[in-house]
Amino acid sequence: MAALFWYSAAMTKLSLDRILQSQGFGSRKWCRQLIADGEVAIDGIVITDFRASFATEGLRFTLFEEEWDYRAHLYVALNKPSAIECSRKPSHHPSVFTILPEQFTWRDVQPVGRLDHDTTGLLLLSDDGAFIHAQSSPKRHVPKLYLATTDEAVDEKLVQALIAGVQLHDEPSPLAALSCKQTGEHQLEIILEQGKYHQVKRMLAAAGNHCAALQRIAIGGLTLAALELEIGEWCFLNDEQLELLRN
Ligand code: URA
Repeated sequence: MAALFWYSAAMTKLSLDRILQSQGFGSRKWCRQLIADGEVAIDGIVITDFRASFATEGLRFTLFEEEWDYRAHLYVALNKPSAIECSRKPSHHPSVFTILPEQFTWRDVQPVGRLDHDTTGLLLLSDDGAFIHAQSSPKRHVPKLYLATTDEAVDEKLVQALIAGVQLHDEPSPLAALSCKQTGEHQLEIILEQGKYHQVKRMLAAAGNHCAALQRIAIGGLTLAALELEIGEWCFLNDEQLELLRN
């Protein structure tokens, strides 16, 4: 059965206009125009016939002299800057989609969970509904590591309160950090399994402090440091990096 699936996947062929459209480069009509204008090349050969078909597996193409790999789905990591909202229809700050390529919007890429407008750091985005669901499902308990800067000095009492659990006013039971450690006079690292609204900030407030700045530095085994992304930079995730999210 597995061998049969591999065979059919490897044989998937699509016409060039469908390929471009599937990759988010615009409507079918627009993609046909790009092809007719000689803007698309495969293996260094400009293809002007939109009906020409190609196996999608491992396909590379050039559009406006930029190289792209065919991707059945997109898995993206962004080092989110501050003053950016994750929503497609933001209320006070620019949307995260203003700092990502336009074709991501065409492909209906969604953030995997949300970060507040003033939270920086690791944000995943994808157009794979199953992946988004698996990553955000509370049943999966994907740990997320945050670096919080606090207004008041951090002490052992605060760390212990966050580990023991604090009561948030709209939650039925106390929420506890999976782990928490002090990393500076006004700084702590906190790992959460849940992704409740403003959770870190509300937990710090409930424990008697205030969050002055927040950065997400890891999701599962995937760390922002390993991705080496500057603030505002993004990258596609490879299979190895995706595996770090599954474990
Ligand atoms: N917790 C928060 O309070 N804000 C975020 O953006 C993420 C987690």
